[in-house]
Amino acid sequence: MNTIQSDNYPIYFENSIDELANFVKQGHYSRFFILTDENTAEHCLPLVKSKIEDQDNFDIIEINAGEESKDIDFCIGVWKMLIDFGADRKSLLINLGGGVISDLGGFAASTFKRGIDFVHVPTTLLSQVDASVGGKTGIDIDSIKNIIGTFTQPKAVFIELGFLDTLPPRQILSGLAEMLKHGLIQDAAYWHQLKASDLTKPSAELVHRSVAIKNKITIEDPHEKGIRKALNFGHTIGHAVETWSLINDKDHLSHGEAIAIGMICEAYLAHKKTNLPAGDLQEITATLNSLYPRYTIEESSFDTLFEYMKKDKKNQSGNINCTLLTNIGVCNIDNICTEAELRDSLLYYINL
Ligand SMILES: NC(=O)c1ccc[n+]([C@@H]2O[C@H](COP(=O)([O-])OP(=O)(O)OC[C@H]3O[C@@H](n4cnc5c(N)ncnc54)[C@H](O)[C@@H]3O)[C@@H](O)[C@H]2O)c1
Ligand SMILES: [Zn+2]
Repeated sequence: MNTIQSDNYPIYFENSIDELANFVKQGHYSRFFILTDENTAEHCLPLVKSKIEDQDNFDIIEINAGEESKDIDFCIGVWKMLIDFGADRKSLLINLGGGVISDLGGFAASTFKRGIDFVHVPTTLLSQVDASVGGKTGIDIDSIKNIIGTFTQPKAVFIELGFLDTLPPRQILSGLAEMLKHGLIQDAAYWHQLKASDLTKPSAELVHRSVAIKNKITIEDPHEKGIRKALNFGHTIGHAVETWSLINDKDHLSHGEAIAIGMICEAYLAHKKTNLPAGDLQEITATLNSLYPRYTIEESSFDTLFEYMKKDKKNQSGNINCTLLTNIGVCNIDNICTEAELRDSLLYYINL
């Protein structure tokens, strides 16, 4: 698989951990730090360490696994560890983990001493096809997702598909939601290819294609003034459902599970507002519904969900904004949706 060139940085797909080792051995950095969580420390760090055995200028920073770690307290923890380990402006942070590690680590690095270099080594499907590409970093406050953050590009991304071997099936499904989204917003042929594939273990070709789609969109519009909003398909409602679940469920929805619900609801909105054909709505609904477990949304939670949607940073002037499809593979950004329309779309999901 070819290396993809992003906004001044490469995204490696082959011999990626060797490429990472070469990168740190080039000598540009005084020290480097590997940010892991307990799972990536167990499953992914050994391979990385085996390639940098001859290096003695690095330290490991390990945090707890899970979205709960993507907050300011853990960020302060990372900053303090960097200070304690003597990080200077010529230091490098290697984010070895899923989207939580890349968002938190990217944010911590982009603000530490006004910004030190960082690279991503994404270890979940979701972070490989989505979170590690495009330069968004961030943390949550009070379960409001990604409310604090920066646009800062990594110096490189190293995608090692072998890391997915230890990933639980539920996490594969989570990343798959973003891949399906890439097809729905931009590439009907890719959507059909995905539907026809073994989705329990997406191939290198499929991962590469998703990265290429995300990369193309984010290069065109790095700061989300226009076309990058296409990537928000499913996320206006999906993020609200995800926030609800984070607060209320012991075993909360994964990001992708929430986005799959959001895509069903927003496909319904698209059918009503941007003429997505009924057949396309049916196809999207049936595909997502067969892949993802059903989730109970009570009508009594709607008002809270609308409150979350209103707080979404994608909104302007208090209006709730959605990216909607006009056909499978074609989308339309900046559609203002009323509470009544959003309510109907949630009812559509509930009544499936
Ligand atoms: N910056 C962006 O553009 C962007 C885009 C999409 C999502 N995100 C963010 O990404 C986050 C979700 O990412 P995620 O789903 O990767 O979550 P995550 O980082 O929490 O990883 C999911 C789980 O998998 C474990 N894990 C990671 N790699 C593993 C491996 N190889 N083997 C076994 N277990 C492993 C983790 O420890 C964790 O328990 C959310 O916070 C979301 O907001 C950011
Ligand atoms: Zn997403």
